[in-house]
Amino acid sequence: MIHVTDNYLPEKDFKKLQDYCYNNDFKIHDTGEKKFLVLPTPKEIVDKLKAPNTDISLSFIRKAHKDFDTELRIHADNFINDKKTVMAAVLYINKPEGVTENGTRFYEHKKHGHRLESDDTEIYNDLIRNHSEVKENWIAKDKVYSKPNRLLVYDAKMFHSKFPQVIEEGERIVLVTFYTKKTIINLKIKDHIIHSFIPIDKSII
Ligand SMILES: [Fe+2]
Repeated sequence: MIHVTDNYLPEKDFKKLQDYCYNNDFKIHDTGEKKFLVLPTPKEIVDKLKAPNTDISLSFIRKAHKDFDTELRIHADNFINDKKTVMAAVLYINKPEGVTENGTRFYEHKKHGHRLESDDTEIYNDLIRNHSEVKENWIAKDKVYSKPNRLLVYDAKMFHSKFPQVIEEGERIVLVTFYTKKTIINLKIKDHIIHSFIPIDKSII
């Protein structure tokens, strides 16, 4: 699933978000596996990115330029911060003027296909460690171009990467959001069964 919505945020909110990105210093965040230049997503924007039957597990704004974030890094988002992720979203923020044309590209892996169906973290980690930088293991597929206030939503299992690998001119700025699935738990109260949506990590089971 790839879904693109233009003019996602109300114009006023998007302008405020863009100004926030241009007027604040991004900080280096080291995940151990990769370094990102990041800014926190404002809470009011997180609220506008909520989606039915999911919880937002992580959201941040990231920046790439010719000296930073220059890896090919083809990957799937099945596991983010050790949480099983079902969906991911990219909101494109940077103004196009003075910035290398960029976006998100999807890929087919020569063995696994378009999606990483397995929930095996060893397979996931092996792909990150041993395949994500090897161009020959992948066939380039659909491209979604960056456009201010365009929201790309995709199935977290789909292989993808930013394009191009190196942003030669200017800075690519995107807001990324990861979603986990809500779990339905049946609660029996006075012989009435009610369905309650409780996120897995906060559940009582
Ligand atoms: Fe990703």
